[in-house]
Parts: sequence; C-alpha cells; structure tokens
Amino acid sequence: MDLVMGSVLILTCLLLFSYWKRSCKRGKLPPGPTPLPIIGNIHQIDVKNVHQAFTNFSKIYGPVFTLYFGMKPTVVLHGYEAIKEALIGHGEEFSGRGSAPIFQMISKDLGIGFSNGNAWKETRHFSLLTLRKLGVGKRSIENQIQEEAQFLVEELKKTNGSPYDPSFILTCAPCNVICAIIFQNRLEYNDQGFVNLVEKLNANSKILSSLWLQLCNMFPVLIDYCPGTHNTYYKNLTSIQSYLSAKIKEHEESLDVTNPRDFIDYFLIKGRQENHNQQSIYTRENLIATLNDLFVGGTDTLKTTMRFALLLLLKYPHVTAKVQEEIDRVIGRQRSPCLQDRKQMPYTDAVIHEVQRFIDIAPNSLPHEVTCDVKFRNYLIPKGTAIVTSLSSVLYDSNEFPNPETFDPGHFLDAKGNFKKSDYFMPFSAGKRVCLGEGLARMELFLFLTTILQNFKLKSLVPPKDINDTPQANVISVSPPPFQLCFIPL
Ligand code: HEM
Ligand SMILES: *[C@@H]1O[C@H](CO)[C@@H](O)[C@H](O)[C@H]1NC(C)=O
Ligand SMILES: *[C@@H]1O[C@H](CO)[C@@H](O)[C@H](O)[C@H]1NC(C)=O
Repeated sequence: MDLVMGSVLILTCLLLFSYWKRSCKRGKLPPGPTPLPIIGNIHQIDVKNVHQAFTNFSKIYGPVFTLYFGMKPTVVLHGYEAIKEALIGHGEEFSGRGSAPIFQMISKDLGIGFSNGNAWKETRHFSLLTLRKLGVGKRSIENQIQEEAQFLVEELKKTNGSPYDPSFILTCAPCNVICAIIFQNRLEYNDQGFVNLVEKLNANSKILSSLWLQLCNMFPVLIDYCPGTHNTYYKNLTSIQSYLSAKIKEHEESLDVTNPRDFIDYFLIKGRQENHNQQSIYTRENLIATLNDLFVGGTDTLKTTMRFALLLLLKYPHVTAKVQEEIDRVIGRQRSPCLQDRKQMPYTDAVIHEVQRFIDIAPNSLPHEVTCDVKFRNYLIPKGTAIVTSLSSVLYDSNEFPNPETFDPGHFLDAKGNFKKSDYFMPFSAGKRVCLGEGLARMELFLFLTTILQNFKLKSLVPPKDINDTPQANVISVSPPPFQLCFIPL
C-alpha cells in the first residue's frame, strides 16, 4: 500500500516537474490556476457554465489567463480590449486555427475552417472572392434568398396553423441558399438527396457539440480506443462527401470555362489553370472540404439563430408587435421584403442584433492558436499555443449592454429610436478568421425573419411568461430548448 502511495506521489512530482520545466522553456505564459497532472484545470471548470467560470478566473488573473485543458496550455482572452488587441492588433499572429484532433482527422488540413497556413489563406481568399462574384451582398443572392423565403412561407402555410416544430424547415432554407451558391440551383424540399444532406448535417452538428466529442478533443487517445459518436460522425461525413463528389463530377462533365455557373465551376476553372502547379490548392479533395465547410458553417448556425429568434418573439409579444408594425409601415403585404428596407427598419434591425447578442451562439468562437512566438502584453506566448476567445465576455459586457442577461432591443437603439451600432457586436468573431459567411448570414436573417413575420402571426402553446429562453450552452455551441408554435396566416 505504502509502495503504491509512494509511487503515485513520485509520479505526480515528476509530472509537475516536467510541466514546470516545459513552461520555463516555453516562454512566459499568462497566469492562471495551478493545473493537476493529466487533467489540468478541467476539474475547476463547470462545463455547464463555462462563461461564469471564465469570468471568475478573469477576476483573479486578469483578462488574459492560462488554463490547462488536459495537458495542453490554453490562453483565454476575456473582454473586448484583450480580444480586439489580439484578433485585430495582432491579427496575423492570432489567425491560426487551434488544432483539435477530431477536426484534423476529418478535414486533414483542407478546406477553410480547420486548415492553416498558406492553404487556408488561399482557400479563404478564393472563397470570399467567389462568393462576391456570385452575388453575396448584391442583388443576385438577395433574389435567391427572397425566393427561398417564399418557399419557406409556402411550407409553413401547409401546417394550417397547427402546432409545429420548425427546426427541420429552418435547416432546409439556409442549406438551400448554400446549394444555390455552389450547385447553381436550389433543390426541392422533398428531393431525396437534399433531405439526406440536411439530415446528415443535422446529425453531425449534434454530435459535434456533444461533451463526448469535446473529451476526444482534449484526450486524443480516446479517438482510437473508444468506439463512440465520432464514428457515426465520420460515417455521416463520408456520406456527405460522396454526395458532393457526385455533384462535382456532374459539374466537370458539363463545365463551360467561359461561362461559370456557380462556386464549383469557379473552383474547377482555377484548377485547370493551375494544373501544372504541384502545390495547387485547387484539388478535388480541397474542393470537397471547402464545400462541406460552407454547408456546416452556413446551416446549423442559421437554424439555431432563427429558432431562437422565434422563441424570443413568442416570449416578448410586444417586441413582435413593434416589428410587425414596422413591416406593415415600410414594406406592406404586397411585395417581398428586400435588403433596402433594413435602413428604414431600425427596430427590426435592433431586434435581430439583440437576438444574436443574447443567444451568444458561439460562446468561445472556434479555437485559435498563435502562428509564431508572440509577445502579447507582458507575456511571451509560444508558437502553437491554443487560444480561446470568450465572445460571451464581449456580448455580455455590462458597460456596453446594461443588464446583459435581459433580452432588450434597446441595447441597439438610441434615445430617438435610431439603430445604434456597437463594436461589441461580435457574434461572428473578428479579425482574419472572422466568419466567412457574415454578410450572407445577415442577409438571410433579415430576409427570412421579416418574410415570416410579414405572413404569419406567431402563437405560443404556453403563456409567454412560462417560456424558458435561457440559452442552453455547452462547451462550443448553444441551442434553444425544443418547442412548437403555431403559424397563423395573416
Ligand atoms: C448566424 C450565423 C453565423 C454565425 C453566428 C457564425 C459564426 C462564426 C464564428 C464565431 C466563426 C469562428 C470565427 C473565428 O474563428 O474567429 C465562424 C467561422 C466560419 N463561418 Fe460562420 N457563422 C454564421 C454563418 C455562416 C454562414 C452562412 C457561412 C457560410 C457561408 C459561414 C461560414 C463560416 C466559415 C467557412 C468559417 C471559418 C472561417 C475561417 O476559419 O477562416 N458561417 N462563423
Ligand atoms: C464563480 O464565483 C462565484 C462567487 O465566488 C461562485 O459562487 C460561483 O460558483 C463561481 N462559478 C463558477 C461557474 O465557477
Ligand atoms: C448519421 O447519423 C445518424 C444519427 O446520429 C445515424 O442514425 C445515421 O445512421 C448516420 N448515417 C450514416 C450514413 O452513418
């Protein structure tokens, strides 16, 4: 017994010593609570309330502190100033994507969201440019979204005002906007390939936000030795990839290099121009990974935001009434809402901003890492150190947004009722990794939500005061509780 205790003690000392030696060698990391061997600080972080845990640490150690998730040191940036200084002031250095074993296994460093270095830079640049060419921020995509919004309304009319959970249809609409961009055409809501795609994306985003997967990320040994949801994830992903692969093949066969139709065409044309280049990023694998990133990035985020928006509109009927009054006054019932209307609709604009602030959909954004040794404030952060940006700490800043725990469109309105911009509005993050789809997402949120409210009265199944609107956060994402409502045609 004594022998066992003795060896445990010695082992612990050795581990602590190796930590200490490593941290001496690895620069001067910001302060933080003392980690335990193997698990680091995990036992000190309440996974159900990561935001509060981080806020507590920031009170003790300041806005920049170090936590150990497992054996890996992670620098947490807390509050607007620290995040701005890092992501904008030191944009290049903080633009690395944190390595997460699960993501690596899946993306193999391809695509946009989980790639790094030159491949990331070029793929991201190409994608942004191509989205712009295809009309994001311009009329062509606006028309696509307006058209999709009308299909959404037709679908909702079919419910005849009976209780309905809109999750599935709210996934289809934004998914179809991505389809229109990359496959040229939207797909019918009952197209089997489309339904499969939406279901697999849904299943995977559920798995991605599960605690089990977070554990796999912290303790990569689990990936190989425990069967788990990540296997289902992988299978689903493979099936999405083969669907995309078939679509690409169709495009290759009908490609007209003088007349690109969509995202895939632009990519294939670039590939042909560069086919002598060994390092070209325009490979089929990279195309598949990039398309998958657009779907993954652009589907679940919008579904969750719109579902949450509906829940909040049910809970606060006086807010809904004011939005509908604004729609009646500015747009009327005869024509579809368009982006031009937004300028004359400060209240609606404020409501959508407040929904995004309040629900805080990506409390810690996606993991970053520093791309080289960085001197930051008084610290030296070694190349490759994981960085977490607490977007919650910005969106829930109580100086910028008094009573941040309260849903209040007034957070984005001045005394005269004009829309009031805030630099603290950071649900899409900031800097070089800022959400690639921010422009698209904001177009969609405005057009989908105003079109729904132009056509329906929303009816709750329970009294508004009983609606639970507390964001259910886990480590990486947020979702509203399941609910139904009635869409009563106006
Ligand atoms: C309400 C909607 C959305 C929200 C709140 C959101 C939020 C975010 C956030 C927080 C990040 C991480 C940024 C960082 O690492 O610092 C991100 C990245 C990304 N988003 Fe979005 N997003 C939304 C919609 C979209 C849409 C519609 C698309 C598709 C076009 C998209 C594509 C991406 C991609 C590709 C990345 C990775 C960028 C990179 O690593 O360089 N997102 N998004
Ligand atoms: C944060 O600190 C408060 C007060 O010190 C404590 O009651 C609370 O449990 C802490 N919360 C978390 C999530 O660590
Ligand atoms: C995708 O995920 C769902 C739910 O997790 C699962 O039921 C289904 O079998 C998976 N599909 C494939 C092709 O593995």
